[in-house]
Amino acid sequence: MLKIAVFVSGGGTNLQALIDRQQTKGLGGGEITAVISSKKGAYALERAEKAGIKGYFVSGKGLSVDEYSRKLDELLENEVKPDLIVLAGFLKIFSPDFCKKYSGRILNIHPSLIPSFCGDGMYGLHVHEAALAKGVKVTGATVHFVDAVTDGGPIVMQKAVEVREGDTPEALQQRVMEQAEHILLPDAVTLFCQGRLKIKDGRVSIS
Ligand code: GRF
Repeated sequence: MLKIAVFVSGGGTNLQALIDRQQTKGLGGGEITAVISSKKGAYALERAEKAGIKGYFVSGKGLSVDEYSRKLDELLENEVKPDLIVLAGFLKIFSPDFCKKYSGRILNIHPSLIPSFCGDGMYGLHVHEAALAKGVKVTGATVHFVDAVTDGGPIVMQKAVEVREGDTPEALQQRVMEQAEHILLPDAVTLFCQGRLKIKDGRVSIS
C-alpha cells in the first residue's frame, strides 16, 4: 500500500474528490494517510476528519521558503513517511532542495491547460480571470509533477473545458473543477499508485 499525503490550504474540494474515489473505486492501491494544511482551520481539515484521516496544520508564519520546507520535511520524515505527495490547492511553495528530495513523487493540480495561465501569482480565481481576459474558448486543468519551477514540472494529464459566453471567473472555476479537476486528480493519483507513470527527458508516459 502506498501512503499518500495531501497538502491543502483551503476548501478542499479536490481532497474530497480523492477521498470519494478512495471510498468507491479505490486509488490503485494507494491510501490517503495524512492531510497537511498551511492554513489553520481550513475546511479541508474538516473533510479529512470526517473521513477519519489524520490532519495536520503546519504554520509557515515568519518562516522563509527554506525554513518552511524544512519544517514540513521533518513532519514527513518523522511521522507521515509518504510515498506520494499530492498538492490539492496548496498555496505555499517548496524550496529547490525539497523539490529535489521528493522529485517524481509530488503531483499538483493546476486549473488551466499548462503552459497557459500558470506560473508565479497564477492561482485560484486569478487563473480564470486571465483566461477570460485573453478570450480563450477552451481552458481546463493539468496534473503535473512538481519541480523547482512553479507549474513547470512534467505534465501527467490534461482535460479541456469549454469557456461559455458570459462566464464569470467564478462560473468558469466551478465548471473547471467539476468537469476536469475532480476527475483528473484522482485518475492521475491512481495511475501513480499503480506504477504506471514514467518520467523520461522531462516528459511523462503512461503505460
Ligand atoms: C483548485 O482550483 C486547484 O486547481 C488549485 O487550487 C484550487 C483548490 O480548490 N490549485 P480546493 O481547495 O481543492 O477546493
